[in-house]
Parts: sequence; structure tokens; C-alpha cells
Amino acid sequence: MSDFSFCSIANVNGSISPLEEATIPIMDRGFLYGDSVYEVFRTYEGVPFLLKEHFDRLENSAKLIGMRLGQSRQQLLGEIQRTIQASGVIKGQEVYVRYQITRGEGTVDLFPGQELITRFVIIVKPLPVWNPEFYRVGMTLAIPETRRNPVNCLDPNIKGGNYLNNILALQEARALGADDCLILSIDDRVTEASNSNLWFVIGGRLVTPQADNLRGLTRISLYQACRLQDLQTFEEDVLLSSLSAATECFVTSSTREVMPVCRLRMPDGRQLSFPSGGGELTRKVMQLYKTFIESYVHQYAETALF
Ligand code: PDD
Repeated sequence: MSDFSFCSIANVNGSISPLEEATIPIMDRGFLYGDSVYEVFRTYEGVPFLLKEHFDRLENSAKLIGMRLGQSRQQLLGEIQRTIQASGVIKGQEVYVRYQITRGEGTVDLFPGQELITRFVIIVKPLPVWNPEFYRVGMTLAIPETRRNPVNCLDPNIKGGNYLNNILALQEARALGADDCLILSIDDRVTEASNSNLWFVIGGRLVTPQADNLRGLTRISLYQACRLQDLQTFEEDVLLSSLSAATECFVTSSTREVMPVCRLRMPDGRQLSFPSGGGELTRKVMQLYKTFIESYVHQYAETALF
């Protein structure tokens, strides 16, 4: 990574500006109601990691909320490229890309009429810089009282612009002194963290919860990366009561990659500890993910955006 940074840039419906100068009309339903869908990806050597999968998920989110996307993939990708160019990023650096589609601008009326035209908002900026201790030692989690919205109220596979459920859980976890939350479903099953998926080693098995969480693309990549090395992964229910048996824990997301968890606060105040810097399987998974990215970047080198 090059030393000097590039600019954070926004692109609102084709209008490019420095991030802090970008605006949207207050009648936009993304602002009024969180009526929007979005994706976040990052580049490796300029290659947009899992670009197709992110677009597939965006379109699925839109389908799940009955939103007709007014912009095609090609158009959005073209705009993402234009925004990246405007940022002044150069080879050797990497970008974070967040693209959001709102249902557009109407009257103050909950019902989304057919006449609405979707608006896109693209943000290109340097990658988030995580506290290096999160990788060297691990992050800490707490289980808040706030529970995950049940799937039949709000499907977690809608990657939408309203994160209040997660924000409430995160606020509680921070008040408890933790870095992030582990959100339970209303029936005591483990779901996910505020914006990443959870993994555990329980009885020597690599397990990730199946209940009420977003189908994270990092997690899906890990399934593939592990399968290539004959390391079995299990997507199944993880009950609150089985957490005491966990010997390792980590989270995964596009921006965090594989991040170890070193401590988990249970609802009764007990603290579970996990190996500093990740246990044996966590460290192996970190390595497998790295290799997976390398081979992806090699395979998709010609798709580099800068
Ligand atoms: N968050 N769960 C939630 C609620 C998320 O918001 C995310 C991603 C994930 C992990 O998904 P993926 O592996 O595809 O990044 C799980 C992104 C990074 C964000 O909102 O910044």
C-alpha cells in the first residue's frame, strides 16, 4: 500500500464530488425511511473482489423489497469506475466501494408508487483501518438484550439501508465495554455480529450459524476455500447454551476479512475467552482465505478497475 492517501469521493446519480460535499434531496426515501439497498466491496490489486456476487446480492435485496432497479449493472459499474478515477487512487493502493440504490424521491407516503425512479449513491474511499489489536489479539463481543428481527418480519438477506436493529444491539454491546455485539434470535439462536458473520470452533468443528443472518460473501468464500483443503465447515443452529463449549471464535466480512474474537460477554455477565490472535483453526482459516484471495485476483486480473 502506497503511503499517501487518495480522496474520498461520492457519486450521486452521476454527480461526482468530494464525499463531504455530496447531498441527496430530503424527500429521498432512502433518507426518509431507509428504503434502499446497498453493497460494499473492496479491491485487491485493483480487482473488485466478488463483484458478480455483490451485484447478484444487490439485485436479490431489491427483489426482496419489491424495488425495480432503474440502473443496469453495466451502468452502475461504469459509474463506480468513474468515481474511482475521480478519487485519484493509483496502482498499489486499494479502494472501499459502497453503492446504494434508494427507491427515489416522492411525497411523504409510505407506499412506494410505481412512478418512483431509483437513485444511486456511490462512495469510494480508502479501506477502513481496523485497530491492529483486533488482528494481533482479537476483538471483544457482548450479547445485548436487543434481539434480531425475526425473518418473517424483516429478512436479513435484505441488505438494506435501515440498520437500526443492528445499531441498537451495537450500542448496547459498546455500553457493556465490548467492541461489537453477538445478536441472538428471539429463540436464543446465535445470528451474527453488527456487520459481519460469526464463526465458532465447537467440539473441534468449524461452525457458523444458519439462523437469521445475511448470507455473507466472505463466509461463502470461506466455504469454498475450506472445501479445497478438505476442511469441513458446518452451517447449523448455534444455540446460546452451546456457546460455553466454543474454543475459538472469529468474524468475517468483506472489510474485516477473518478477524479473531478473544472474548465474549454472555448475558449473565460471564466472560468466555478465546485464544489471543485466534486459535489453531482460526489461524488456518485466515491463511486459507488469503490464498483464496490470491487465486481470485490471479484469475480475475483483467477485471482490475485501476
Ligand atoms: N457488511 N452481516 C451483516 C449484517 C453485514 O452488514 C455484513 C457486511 C456481513 C458480511 O457480509 P460480507 O461478507 O458479504 O461482507 C454480515 C458490510 C461489510 C458493511 O456493511 O460494511
